[in-house]
Amino acid sequence: MLRTNTCGELNLTHIGNKVTLAGWVQKTRNKGFMIWVDLRDRYGVTQIIFDEERTDKVMLEKAQSLGREFVIQVQGTVIERVSKNPNLSTGDVEILAESFDVLNPSKTPPFTIESETDGGEELRMQYRYLDIRRKPVRENLIFRSKVSLAIRNYLSAHNFIDVETPYLIKSTPEGARDFVVPSRMNAGEFYALPQSPQTFKQLLMVGGMDQYFQIVKCFRDEDLRADRQPEFTQIDCEMTFVEQEDILTRFEGLLKHLLKEIKGVEVFEFPRMTYVEAIQKYGNDKPDIRFGMEFAELNEFAKGKGFPVFDQQELIVGIAVPGAASYTRKQIDKLIDWVKRPQIGANGLIWVKCNEDGSYKSSVDKFYSQEDLTNWAKQTQASAGDLVLIMAGETNKTRGQLSALRMELAEQLGLRDPETFAPLWVVDFPLLEWDKESKRYHAMHHPFTAPKPEQMSLLATDPGAVNANAYDLVLNGNEIGGGSIRIHDAKVQETMFDLLGFTKEEAQAQFGFLMEAFQYGAPPHGGIALGLDRLVSILGGQETIRDFIAFPKNNRGRDLMIDAPASIDSTQLEELNLVLKQKK
Ligand code: AMO
Repeated sequence: MLRTNTCGELNLTHIGNKVTLAGWVQKTRNKGFMIWVDLRDRYGVTQIIFDEERTDKVMLEKAQSLGREFVIQVQGTVIERVSKNPNLSTGDVEILAESFDVLNPSKTPPFTIESETDGGEELRMQYRYLDIRRKPVRENLIFRSKVSLAIRNYLSAHNFIDVETPYLIKSTPEGARDFVVPSRMNAGEFYALPQSPQTFKQLLMVGGMDQYFQIVKCFRDEDLRADRQPEFTQIDCEMTFVEQEDILTRFEGLLKHLLKEIKGVEVFEFPRMTYVEAIQKYGNDKPDIRFGMEFAELNEFAKGKGFPVFDQQELIVGIAVPGAASYTRKQIDKLIDWVKRPQIGANGLIWVKCNEDGSYKSSVDKFYSQEDLTNWAKQTQASAGDLVLIMAGETNKTRGQLSALRMELAEQLGLRDPETFAPLWVVDFPLLEWDKESKRYHAMHHPFTAPKPEQMSLLATDPGAVNANAYDLVLNGNEIGGGSIRIHDAKVQETMFDLLGFTKEEAQAQFGFLMEAFQYGAPPHGGIALGLDRLVSILGGQETIRDFIAFPKNNRGRDLMIDAPASIDSTQLEELNLVLKQKK
């Protein structure tokens, strides 16, 4: 070993020990006759001291040339520090150097490699291996490993087995575009990288493998956001002979286990909400329920009073913002500007201040009496001191806009406490979604999701009204998982493909293998997949999954470090049959 100890473990109990440490020079302080070096490795930082009087003069001179990020090996004695550093686990001691070797020098790094850095995001992504040396990034990756292990332990303890499924497959329709891989040996044909192992895990159930799990990379060519990467990791699971309730119980158990094990937080039964309720109360199918501000529909109390803006609208809906009656005109105008931004696209906001004396002041006093405003306050559950904000317009659009405002206000008011965990199940999703543009149904979850058994007959008469045995797991306003009970009957699967606009031939070409398998004794089955990156980042108190991925892509889907994607040379293109061979 090149070291006897790590840079994170020495303390007063080691005083007098002769040790050898190896690591990176984080920082040096040079007083001429004395040099202090902060030596860093994965485990921490230890202070090394080179001293003209107590150590060798030649060595002190050699130490003058140590630069940031040099890799060194130092031998010395553990001594007590005169001025201790309580912020450091090794802050009571230092190493009086007796000899050292430079194992590798370093160029001056392009940004400071400390917890607080001066490096911009793109630069840090380009030199990700240097960024990983920084404590916050390193700790996020260690945290991820800890969460992964706790997941494996839980699932193994409940008899799940880890089975790997292929990455070079045929497209699985999960709603995004596929990344494709040309096949050299099959000219003109392509593999697709899996958007999820959906069909394979179902085939494992047909194969009798019950209780499968896999922590697996998935690939989706979609627009990127803070909670989306083109390649991400799922905790993918499937179970045989189960009903929805069995899956909810098992995976509620998993999240409870993680919250307890990782965060020391005890959460009792998760609330459940239907999709319809979530949309009505929060304008959103992944509501953050750490705080209130629930929607109140005000049509009945606001229409027909001569205010034309409201009279013409489909939906009038409001929320009560706690303690915001004291907002100044300027603060309210800022909120109005915020909702008018193109990203939100609202026409404006109507406001009502609930004064401490029980009276109301609003932006529509001309049209509404104190009694009307009292009704609005009552519906939105506003108390004295609150501010009621109201939007009006087309139902779906307005709900979406108010939902965005609700989240923004919660952020501004500090109501989204990262150390509070509020999980919930959203259930009873519609099976299908009508797409106005293509004038056809899309599967709300995916085409393999089973309709509610009691609504099966509606498939023929009113498919849009059918609900699915599908559920999402939501944590602090983020969708961290989704799943369903699957169709296991070839005939029902055929009907589903038909509803989704596949011809018989198209369905056969794409999913013939599945329908064939369903004819050989497919058992009832269902499952779920959780987004590991999202889960880890929320447990880690953040919502940007990039910070918890060792080598993430930027918003344009680029890996700035290896500079991918990149073009390939013409011989490779020819080999892959992507261009015509040139005549030599
Ligand atoms: P779904 O598409 O809901 O379901 O995906 C499951 C979970 O994966 C996470 N996720 C993502 N995380 C990061 N970046 C992305 N681009 C991304 N896309 C999805 C989310 C999501 O809840 N096969 C089904 C599961 C099933 O039915 O069992 C599926 O993939 O947290």
